[in-house]
Amino acid sequence: MPRPNEESGRSKKLEGKVALVTGAARGIGRAVAAKLASEGARIVINDRDEAPVDEASRALRQSGATVATCPGSVTDDGFAQRFIDTALDEFGGVDIIVNNAGYTWDSVIQKMTDDQFQAILDVHLVAPFRILRAASEPIRAFAKTEAAEGREVFRKVVNVSSVVGLGGNPGQANYASAKAGVIGLTKTLAKEWGRYKVTVNCVAFGFIKTAMTQPISTVDGRKVGVQPELLEKLEREIPLGRLGTPEEAADAVYLFCSPESNYISGQVVTVAGGMSF
Ligand SMILES: NC(=O)c1ccc[n+]([C@@H]2O[C@H](COP(=O)([O-])OP(=O)(O)OC[C@H]3O[C@@H](n4cnc5c(N)ncnc54)[C@H](O)[C@@H]3O)[C@@H](O)[C@H]2O)c1
Repeated sequence: MPRPNEESGRSKKLEGKVALVTGAARGIGRAVAAKLASEGARIVINDRDEAPVDEASRALRQSGATVATCPGSVTDDGFAQRFIDTALDEFGGVDIIVNNAGYTWDSVIQKMTDDQFQAILDVHLVAPFRILRAASEPIRAFAKTEAAEGREVFRKVVNVSSVVGLGGNPGQANYASAKAGVIGLTKTLAKEWGRYKVTVNCVAFGFIKTAMTQPISTVDGRKVGVQPELLEKLEREIPLGRLGTPEEAADAVYLFCSPESNYISGQVVTVAGGMSF
């Protein structure tokens, strides 16, 4: 029997599911992990460094979540297999994968180095590709068993893109290319994995209030954030009048993880407070 959601009294929608979220120590990824856990999923969380992952897992557990951790950079060799193996070893399944981890490293093209371009492709596009490739064998095996038993079990992939991948942005040739690429990956896998009952969709965020949209600062020698004047201008241009919250971003990811989206695949939803691109 599914346990009821404490707030609404209705059954939790993701009871029995195992969800994997990259970049889940803070920001949107952390809100996604909390949302999926609140709907009953058991969660495997990742982020680059061990201490923030441990802190996030403690907080999630305190709110009742069942959590396993897989710290390390999603770009590390062998990470993808380790991530999928963590879900299989700890919880015995792989039902939801949210490819969220990432950062920005901006320059106009004449100043952008090869390493800078490649690093951003690696984290936003190559890492999701490797994670999904590592998941393909267990997913195929689960789907084969379920089909033989006459059961239709849906699995979900949500890849995180950006309005920058749809419309471009000066200073972000690397990020725009990677975020456009992940849309191609999404649409292709939706076609390859329909036979396994996996839906593969993309959320393209506009401006969500996280470290990525703080006023500009320097992190590890990289400029991170947005010019304060640009933020003010953006808030005036966003039809809903403000940046989104990580929780609102997580709700959009959740839509593609819920049973209500079982027949939606290969889609990109813009989550940008009414801005269109
Ligand atoms: N905030 C926005 O306005 C916005 C807009 C469009 C898209 N996005 C996308 O949403 C996702 C989440 O971003 P956010 O806004 O929550 O930013 P954030 O910086 O708050 O969170 C990103 C998380 O990813 C982690 N991360 C970065 N590189 C990693 C790596 N190599 N391996 C593992 N973890 C890594 C970070 O440590 C951090 O915890 C990113 O893919 C980002 O590109 C954000």
